[in-house]
Amino acid sequence: MAGTRVDVLGAGIVGLTVADELARRGHDVAVVDPRPAGGASYAAAGMLSPAAEVWHGEEEILRLGLASLELWPELAARLEVEVRRTGTLLVGYDAGDLQQVERQAALLHRHGHRVELLGRAGVRAAEPSLARVAGGALLPAEASVDPRAICDALLARVELRGERRPGAEVTVVATGTALPEPWSGLVTGVRGEILRLRSDDPPRRTVRGWVGGEAVYLVPRGDDRVVLGATSETHAAPPVLTAGGALRLLTAARALWPALDRAALVEGTARDRPATADGLPLVGPSGVEGVVLAAGHYRHGVLLAPLTAQLVADHLDTGRVDPVLDPRRTMEGAR
Ligand code: GLY
Repeated sequence: MAGTRVDVLGAGIVGLTVADELARRGHDVAVVDPRPAGGASYAAAGMLSPAAEVWHGEEEILRLGLASLELWPELAARLEVEVRRTGTLLVGYDAGDLQQVERQAALLHRHGHRVELLGRAGVRAAEPSLARVAGGALLPAEASVDPRAICDALLARVELRGERRPGAEVTVVATGTALPEPWSGLVTGVRGEILRLRSDDPPRRTVRGWVGGEAVYLVPRGDDRVVLGATSETHAAPPVLTAGGALRLLTAARALWPALDRAALVEGTARDRPATADGLPLVGPSGVEGVVLAAGHYRHGVLLAPLTAQLVADHLDTGRVDPVLDPRRTMEGAR
């Protein structure tokens, strides 16, 4: 019902996109966060890569990601930010790494996506800034955005508060790894360390590569900025950028992209990604009346933000829930 008073807890890309969609549909929305856009969204590279970022056993992410990718151009146009539709290039540094690319292509093929494998020369033609690699594959439909620019644009549109409003009828919880009780155990922090560089020879498109088994990605912004990510480790300690993490990223990226040596290293960031036990987000009823979850987006928060916003708004307006994402799947006897 339009006009519902909704507090959204969490001003990351998911919470902000949800708040914007609810406000567009006529609800009275405030976003509550003492440190807006300071969590995982601050670190995120912004790949809109449903195919490059799907792993075996996570095939639902492909379906959800493709649906959300379709929503991105309209959201970005409304926010007046760019979607770079340059595609993703998968690359394998050596023969063993190329098997990883081939496994990814086979996985996508099984789900009805034709992926064209490229030899050494094909990779070079697609991305002249790269070193000699064993081969790769091009995923032309993929894209990227700058999550910091998205969050800035959304923050300019929503009502932001340091504390919750008395009398909110619905609360949407979108607080990343810091879920309040009784939901805190539903997500685990998986640390991602990520570097930001400036280069005189950036790649043209997103590159996701494997180098001696190490996964690495480069996301260019279309100017001299390049984001290099990301480590992935479960830690109980607060997220910090470690020397070892930076070294692994730089070593792998340098093998793929020789211009790294000349690039200015301008920032290193570490944040925890909110992972769920089954790898799928928690979007919908929380088991507590009037509280809706928009959480657990793990590696896919940027990609899935517009779809999550629609699902949360549809749930408020119609009661509908996507059964695959229903948080009650994790709660004994809640459905
Ligand atoms: N989606 C990229 C990452 O989580 O590193």
